[in-house]
Amino acid sequence: MSTSTLHDGLEALRADRAHEPAASSAVSRLASTFGTPLYVYDRTTIVSQFRSFHTAFASLFPKLRVHYALKANANGAVLAVLRGEGAAPEVVSLGEIVTALRAGWRGDEILFTSSSKGPDEIAKAVEIGAVLNVDSRDELEQAAATAAAAGKRVRISFRINPGVDPHTLHHINTGIPEAKFGLHLDGGLARAAYARATELPSVAITGIHCHIGSQIMETDGYVATARKMLAFVQELKRDLGLSLEFVDLGGGLAVPYHDGEEGLVPAVLADALAPVWSEAMADLAALGGDPPALWLEPGRFFVASSGFLVTRVNTVKTTTVKTFVNVNAGSNTLLRPAMYAAHHRARVVGASGTPEILDVAGDVCETGDILAAERRLPRPRAGDFVVFLDAGAYGFAMASTYNARPLPAEVLVDGDTATLIRRRGTFEDLFRDETK
Ligand SMILES: Cc1ncc(COP(=O)(O)O)c(C=O)c1O
Repeated sequence: MSTSTLHDGLEALRADRAHEPAASSAVSRLASTFGTPLYVYDRTTIVSQFRSFHTAFASLFPKLRVHYALKANANGAVLAVLRGEGAAPEVVSLGEIVTALRAGWRGDEILFTSSSKGPDEIAKAVEIGAVLNVDSRDELEQAAATAAAAGKRVRISFRINPGVDPHTLHHINTGIPEAKFGLHLDGGLARAAYARATELPSVAITGIHCHIGSQIMETDGYVATARKMLAFVQELKRDLGLSLEFVDLGGGLAVPYHDGEEGLVPAVLADALAPVWSEAMADLAALGGDPPALWLEPGRFFVASSGFLVTRVNTVKTTTVKTFVNVNAGSNTLLRPAMYAAHHRARVVGASGTPEILDVAGDVCETGDILAAERRLPRPRAGDFVVFLDAGAYGFAMASTYNARPLPAEVLVDGDTATLIRRRGTFEDLFRDETK
């Protein structure tokens, strides 16, 4: 009988001790109780990630608000943990607005960012008093008209494209000039948008926003962005008399997806940004401006490392070229490897044989459906478990029922307690919305 907790077992997996009883007893317990494939989130990790981030910034930035980008993982139980820690929501769709309200946040706590918002989405933001993070002049005019028609003022910020390359993957590099997001500082587009907003009585200008990308390893891109943004904030004060309530520098902190990696440590980023910020605040004060709050909005950093995808081995096959471990999850369950060639550490649970080079393949009919390519792993047998680490962000959130495979279940672990937080999808779910 193992005396270790489920949390200990998950930690053993993370520490590459998947062969130890703590890991195998936790995984077999979770798999036999809830089935596989299974997303498991460790509450303790979510809390410690949030607190380490908050503490690092709060000590240097007295006016701070930390948002959570719901798109990373919007399960209500995960949201309850982050809301309990004091996070505010950053959303990208009407569905995420509804999700945030359902989780208990007030409308006026929501920041709504999207480069393509429909009339219903703008109307909802106006109705609930969310900050509408405006992406274009067209959207500004629509928001102003919607608010005027409702007899309200819409609170807005503008999403800025700062034209900074933080050296991350092209697909998740959002602040480069050719990206679709935001209003460019270059060419005066952002400046003209603020100037126009000052002419619109139904618009209340509250802040400024940028988000330069995801899985960013270095501080340089953030520092360059902060310099540009804060210089622009001073320009807005000097030339348009605008005092902003907040400057949102986005999310994007990298987490480690490989053994031995560190990701971007919040304290390192906070230390890099603090001198730029205080210098700009001093300049702003000289212009007679009040200091804005610093807003940040990570998604991945809070939840990625809390998540484990537990899969079961169906078959093991050696071809003339490779050995494939075929598991009962695929790119429909965890899309990141197929979509971004993303790396998730894979742990074979319980097996202790000499490691060989193996491909862990999914159960979807696509050649690209390889969850872990060419890894040194002990060869498992049918019925063993392979667990993918760091699957808490953009994991379940991107899952689909492609190949008519129902969605996996989700479980939240707290110490030695596991709670089902989303039941496994059923075949009935696949057809429920069909009308013929
Ligand atoms: C506008 C915005 N904010 C925040 C995030 C969160 O990014 P990350 O999960 O890398 O922290 C994203 C992710 O795409 C985003 O688009």
